[in-house]
Amino acid sequence: MNVLILGSGGRECAFAWKLAQSKHLGKLFIAPGNAGTAKIGENLNLNINNFDAVKQEVLSRKIDMVLVGPEDPLVHGIHDFFLTDKDLKEIPVIGPQRYAAQLEGSKEFAKEFMYRHQIPTAKYQSFTKDNLQEGFEFLETLKAPYVLKADGLAAGKGVLILNELEEAKNELKEMLEHQKFGDASAKVVIEEFLDGIEMSSFVLTNGEDYVVLPNAKDYKRIGEGDTGLNTGGMGAISPVPFADEVFLKKVEDRVIKPTVEGLQKDGIPYIGFIFIGLIKVNNEPYVIEYNVRMGDPETEVVLPRIKSDFLELLLATYFKKLNQYKLELDVRSATTVMLVSGGYPEAYEKGKEINGLDMVEDSILFHAGTTLENGKVVTSGGRVLAVTSYGDNFKSALKKSYQNIEKIHFEKMNFRSDLGFDL
Ligand code: AMP
Ligand code: GLY
Repeated sequence: MNVLILGSGGRECAFAWKLAQSKHLGKLFIAPGNAGTAKIGENLNLNINNFDAVKQEVLSRKIDMVLVGPEDPLVHGIHDFFLTDKDLKEIPVIGPQRYAAQLEGSKEFAKEFMYRHQIPTAKYQSFTKDNLQEGFEFLETLKAPYVLKADGLAAGKGVLILNELEEAKNELKEMLEHQKFGDASAKVVIEEFLDGIEMSSFVLTNGEDYVVLPNAKDYKRIGEGDTGLNTGGMGAISPVPFADEVFLKKVEDRVIKPTVEGLQKDGIPYIGFIFIGLIKVNNEPYVIEYNVRMGDPETEVVLPRIKSDFLELLLATYFKKLNQYKLELDVRSATTVMLVSGGYPEAYEKGKEINGLDMVEDSILFHAGTTLENGKVVTSGGRVLAVTSYGDNFKSALKKSYQNIEKIHFEKMNFRSDLGFDL
C-alpha cells in the first residue's frame, strides 16, 4: 500500500517512522514533510489545503491511503472532498469529516456535544457581540481566574486565563468587538476554571469501535516550571505516572465511551484520532478540549510505545475490524524533549545549521522544523527536533534524551531541562 501523510512536523515524522516499519507499506509520501521525513519516504512539495493539488498527487502516485496530521485540512473538509470525488471516494482518509472536525474547530460545538452526552467538563456559556453585556454578567457570577476561549481555531492562542474581573471584561470586549483573534473570536466561550493536573488520552475510532492508545502529558509553556508563553509543546511523557488504573477506568467509562457513543447517537460519522485533553480534579476526569488529530509532541511518545503494525491498525480502523483488534504496547516509558529556535514562540531566526545529529545514540530523532539546504540540515521552524528516548521510567528515559541533546547544536538552540518536574 502506498500511503500519503499530510503535514510537516514532528508528529508527521513519527507517523512516517512508524509506518515505515509496517509490512504492508509500499511507498511512503509526506507532504510537505521535513528533512527527517525525506530520509524515510519521499517528500512532496504541496500545499495540503489545496485539495485539487492533493488529488493530483494521490492519483498520479497511486496512493492507497491518506493520513492527515494537522487539523486545518480536516476542518476545511478534506475528507468530505475525497468522499464526494468519484476518483477518490474509495481511498481511505484517516481523519474525520468537516462536521465532526468542529469538535476541535468550534469550542461551542464541543461544549454542546459534551453537555448533550453528559461528559464531564467545566460549566460554560457562550457569547457574541450582541450579548456582550450578558457576558459581563456571567463573568460576575464566576470566581477568578476567568477562562475565555475564542470559539474558532486561533493557532493555539485563543485561550486566555485572567486573574482580574476587569481584565476579563476588557479582554471579552477585545475578542468580541475588536476581533482580537479575527473571526475565531466572533463567539467566545467563557468557562469555569478547573484546578488540577492535565494529561491527554488518545483514541482511534471508526465511530463504532475504538482502541485507546497510550496516554501522554505534554509541557506547553516555554519556561522552566511551566512559566512564560504557551508553545505548541516543549516535550511529552508517556505513560502519565499519576494516571493509575482506577483513574483510567473512569476516563474510559465517563469520557471515551460516551464520546464514541455520542457520535453514534448524533449520527456523526468519524474515522480517525480523538485527542482528549483532560484535567484531573480531585481524582475525577474533566474534558478540557477535543482535538480531531494526534498531538504534537505527544505522537512522538505515543507511537514509539505501540508495538503493533501501525498500518494494520489504521486499516482495521477504516474497515471496521477494530472489535477483533488487540493493540500491543511497549511497557517502557517514552519521553521526548523538543529543541526549539531561540526566541520561539515569538520571533525567531531560521536557516541555522544543525550539527551532531549523527552522534545521537539510543534516542530517536523526530524532525519538526527542519529542511535540507545544499545537503545540510537547517532549522526552518520554531520547534526543530524532538528527541525521544525509552526508559524503565520517565526519569531514565529523560536522562537519555538530555544526554543526547548535549551532542546536538544549532545557534540559539533552546529546550526545557525540567520536564517531569511536576510528577
Ligand atoms: P484549550 O485550547 O481549550 O485546550 O485550552 C488551552 C489550555 O488552557 C489548556 O491546556 C489548559 O491548560 C487551560 N484551560 C482551558 N480550559 C480550562 C479550564 N476550564 N480550567 C482551567 N484551565 C483551562
Ligand atoms: N501538544 C498539543 C497539541 O498538539 O495540540
